[in-house]
Amino acid sequence: ALNRSYKGKVQKHKERSYSYVQPLASYKVAILGAAGGIGQPLALLVKMSPLVSSLNLYDIANVKGVAADLSHCNTPSRVADFTGNSELADCLKGANIVVIPAGVPRKPGMTRDDLFNINANIVKTLVEAVADNCPDAFIHIISNPVNSTVPIAAEVLKQKGVYDPKKLFGVTTLDVVRANTFVAQKKNLKLIDVDVPVIGGHAGITILPLLSKTKPSVTFTDEEVEELTVRIQNAGTEVVEAKAGAGSATLSMAYAAARFVESSLRALDGDTDVYECSYIQSELTELPFFASRIKLGRKGVEAVISSEVGELTEYEHKALEALKPELKASIEKGVAFVEKQP
Ligand code: NAI
Repeated sequence: ALNRSYKGKVQKHKERSYSYVQPLASYKVAILGAAGGIGQPLALLVKMSPLVSSLNLYDIANVKGVAADLSHCNTPSRVADFTGNSELADCLKGANIVVIPAGVPRKPGMTRDDLFNINANIVKTLVEAVADNCPDAFIHIISNPVNSTVPIAAEVLKQKGVYDPKKLFGVTTLDVVRANTFVAQKKNLKLIDVDVPVIGGHAGITILPLLSKTKPSVTFTDEEVEELTVRIQNAGTEVVEAKAGAGSATLSMAYAAARFVESSLRALDGDTDVYECSYIQSELTELPFFASRIKLGRKGVEAVISSEVGELTEYEHKALEALKPELKASIEKGVAFVEKQP
C-alpha cells in the first residue's frame, strides 16, 4: 500500500502534469535481455513509471527497434539502447536498478534446472559487468533457475568485492501474483484485496504459498489447500504447455517484474511502507538463500518478516521441510558453478 505522503506526492504530480511529461523522480533502470519475451513488455511497463527518468535497454540483438518504438511514448523517461558486450558498461553506468531477464526460457518437458548451463553463464557475465559499473544498484534476477542464479550472482559479486546481500533479489513476485489470482478465484474474493505470501524458492515444490496467512483471512479445506498449492507450484508449467514450445510466461512475468521494480523505486524514493516477497540471502532457515516477505528501504532489504514463517500449519511445515533438500542442492549447484571457473 502506498503511504500517505507518497500518495500526496503522486497526486501533486498528477495535478501538475496529467500527461506525465515531467518525471516524479529521476531513477535510472537498466533491463538486460530487454528484447526478449519478458524484456519487451517489462520495458513498456517500466516506461510508464513516473519515477524513472532514464530507461536503458540491453540485449545481444534486436534492441534498437524496441527502444525506438518505446521512445515514442510520451512518458518522462528517456530510452536508450545498447547492443552487445562492448556497450554493456555504458548501459549500466549510474543505474539504480538492474533487472536481468536475459537467457533461454523453458520448453514443454523441461524443468527450470534444465536451463542451468546456458543461463548460469549469461547471469555470471552480466553480473560481473554490474559489479564493475554500478555496484550499488539493486539487482533483480529473473533468469531461471532463480534458485541457482541468485547464488551465482552472489558469488560473482563476492569475488569482485562488492557484494551487498541487501541489494540482490531473486524475483519471485510472479508466484505471489499467481497465488493472489488463484485464491481470489477460488474464494470469490475481490482480487485487489488478496495477498498471499509465498516463501521458499522459485521452482516446483520449493514454491510454498502460505495460504494460512492469506489476507483477508479466509479458511480453506484440506483439499483446497492441496489443490491451490499444487496449482501455484505448477502454474509456470501450465503456461509452458499452453505455449507448446514457444516459451514460458512472459506477459504475467513482465507484470510481476514491473511490480517489483515499482516497489523498489518507491523504497528508493523514501516510501517507508513497501513489502514484497523475494528470494534473498537469508537467516530465516538454515538455508543460505530463501524467499520470504521482506520490507524494502532505500538501502535494499530493510527487514525480513519472520513472523509468517514462525507460525506454520502442519501442512506448510511439512512442505517446508520437504522443499529444503531440493533448494539446498540448487543453491550449492550455483555456488559450485562459480567456484569451479578458472
Ligand atoms: P526470451 O528468449 O524470449 O528472451 C531472452 C532474451 O535474452 C533474448 O532477447 C536474448 O537475446 C537475450 N539474451 C540472451 N543472452 C543474453 C546475454 N548474454 N546478454 C543479454 N541478453 C541476452 O526468454 P523470456 O521468455 O524472456 O525468458 C527469460 C528468462 O526468464 C528465462 O530464463 C526464463 O526461464 C525466465 N523466467 C523467469 C520467471 C520468474 O518468475 N523468475 C518467469 C518466467 C521466465
